[in-house]
Amino acid sequence: MHPSLSEDSLDILFRHARTHSAWLDEPVGDDVLRRIYDLMKWGPTSANSCPARILFLRTPAAKQRLLPALSAGNVEKTMKAPVTAILAYDLAFYEKMPKLFPHKPAMRDLFANSPDLAKITSFRNGTLQGGYFILAARSVGLDCGPMSGFDNAKVDREFFPADASSKTCVESNFLCNLGYGDAAQLPPRNPRLDFDEACQLL
Ligand SMILES: Cc1cc2nc3c(=O)[nH]c(=O)nc-3n(C[C@H](O)[C@H](O)[C@H](O)COP(=O)(O)O)c2cc1C
Repeated sequence: MHPSLSEDSLDILFRHARTHSAWLDEPVGDDVLRRIYDLMKWGPTSANSCPARILFLRTPAAKQRLLPALSAGNVEKTMKAPVTAILAYDLAFYEKMPKLFPHKPAMRDLFANSPDLAKITSFRNGTLQGGYFILAARSVGLDCGPMSGFDNAKVDREFFPADASSKTCVESNFLCNLGYGDAAQLPPRNPRLDFDEACQLL
């Protein structure tokens, strides 16, 4: 028998997990944020590139810096969330490959010399890591509210200014509110595609 999660755990991760916009008045400690990262970091990325970079905004001052970039419909839920994470990716992720992929040093140069390859690799794998992030957050008992309704360029100018000396080039991907959701305020859930609508067995 291969080990697998209990039905209760699958409910927590998938079937009962909702996208939340209203939050209970319960803080989220930094220790929980560290637990999220220490789980999600194990999710696979190509050549172990690990391009995701995350900013956790936990204070009113940090939230204020985000406010001008938010779409109107995302303002209230984000300002009220205990934490808002900016899921970003580093286009210069290859600078860390000597640590992350030490047995093949040529990989660093492959990406460093191919900006198009570096871009698609950082976006694809940074987005995958964003998915791992949501599942990791749910697995430690948090609720999530992911959002793409914001001005990426404004966020990048505010939080990820170009800095040649740091050897990074970070761009925002999506935002994710974190907290303990108020289930009483959830709207009805929309359906998903059935297996036969989304999948083919060849
Ligand atoms: C990448 C991403 C971006 C999203 N952007 C927004 C957004 O800007 N504003 C919003 O209210 N909801 C946003 N959502 C929430 C989705 O509409 C929601 O996750 C989806 O309808 C599923 O809802 P459920 O998890 O409650 O079933 C986003 C979700 C994802 C994953």
